[in-house]
Amino acid sequence: MSFWTSIDMGLDYKSIRQDFPILQTMMNGKPLVFLDSAASSQKPQRVIDAFEDYYRCRNANIHRGAYRLSYEATDLYDGTRKKMAAFLGAESPDEIIFTRNTTESINLVAYSWGLSNLKPGDEVLVSELEHHSNLVPWMIAAKKTGAVLKHLPLTEDHKYDYSKIDSVLSPKTRMVALAHMSNAVGTIHDIELLAKKAHAVGALFSVDGAQGACHLPVDVRKIDCDFYSLSAHKMLGPTGVGVLYGKRKLLEGMDPFLGGGDMILTVQKDSYLPAELPMKFEAGTPNIAGVVAFAIALEYLRQAGLSNIHQHEQEIVRYAVEEMKRVQGVTLYGTSDFASRGGVVSFNVDGVHPHDVGSILDEEGIAVRAGHHCCEPFMRKLDISGTVRASFYLYNGPEDVDALIRGIKRVKEIFKK
Ligand code: ALA
Repeated sequence: MSFWTSIDMGLDYKSIRQDFPILQTMMNGKPLVFLDSAASSQKPQRVIDAFEDYYRCRNANIHRGAYRLSYEATDLYDGTRKKMAAFLGAESPDEIIFTRNTTESINLVAYSWGLSNLKPGDEVLVSELEHHSNLVPWMIAAKKTGAVLKHLPLTEDHKYDYSKIDSVLSPKTRMVALAHMSNAVGTIHDIELLAKKAHAVGALFSVDGAQGACHLPVDVRKIDCDFYSLSAHKMLGPTGVGVLYGKRKLLEGMDPFLGGGDMILTVQKDSYLPAELPMKFEAGTPNIAGVVAFAIALEYLRQAGLSNIHQHEQEIVRYAVEEMKRVQGVTLYGTSDFASRGGVVSFNVDGVHPHDVGSILDEEGIAVRAGHHCCEPFMRKLDISGTVRASFYLYNGPEDVDALIRGIKRVKEIFKK
């Protein structure tokens, strides 16, 4: 039974919202309407408390001290690793590496696996829809090794074009590096199919899960991905904590990414032997307080239920899209196949720059992201400079959509004058 299967409580977003102190505050004289969780989620009080409690009562470095406080800090830190392994359905906590964020996790794979395994002419499959974090590390690895990037074509409605995948995969493909969900337009991708396709040509499959594990149940063994990267701050946890899941055999075969304390078994004058997993990839003092508090965020998500969260977000997005279609002069991006869509609505107001839309919404207390969303190749493909992005999470409800619609009407009024 997976970590999530016993949970099905429905989602009472109104009472969930009470757990988030920032959502009770005012912004520019209006109640805050937070629609930027794809950039970073808000934190429930109990996560904030755990962070503070750690520094107040439990602070010590891990894996080092010969005293009780340090043993306890170590237990808490490694306790999050165990929870994370259960969260992702990993075989062992040793397959969970703590990093700073998704970006660092993907870089770890691109450097540690990529630089030792890619050769001139090898291919890495990405797409134009990827976040820069799932493109630039592979560009760097390709430049250093002589490998080349190939791009999985997209459909008109911003999905991966699975009908073309066989034409871009070949025995030269060594790595397929694609996302679980698009941060720019919210498409949820068929990562189980992608894993099968990658493995059929002998390639590995690395998932950019920055927008995945926070919104969708994830079972890495069912997906059969080789790597899965995520960020704690997008899933109710603190900033500065990321996770790389990797299959044990692969991680064991890879060189360390960073050298320093804690990642070694022994050091001689001119050489070193790396530690076993997971320490081999965790050089230096990590974000202990952040990792400790992250366990509370994972427990919060477990209680809410990831399937419930996903279903709730899909309902909000469907409502948002229907309401926005009724406002003239709004261009919407993203698929109308709501089964393949998460909690993101990307749009433009005709004739108004996305940053101007964002600023006017901000005056109304509505927080959205405006710009290219770290997806420049995709924006270029759409021939636009950017979009306005509203992104939803378990604490949002239809009233937030209503506020957004009022805000968009205000934008139109101002620009009509
Ligand atoms: N990747 C984050 C976003 O999409 C920062 O906003």
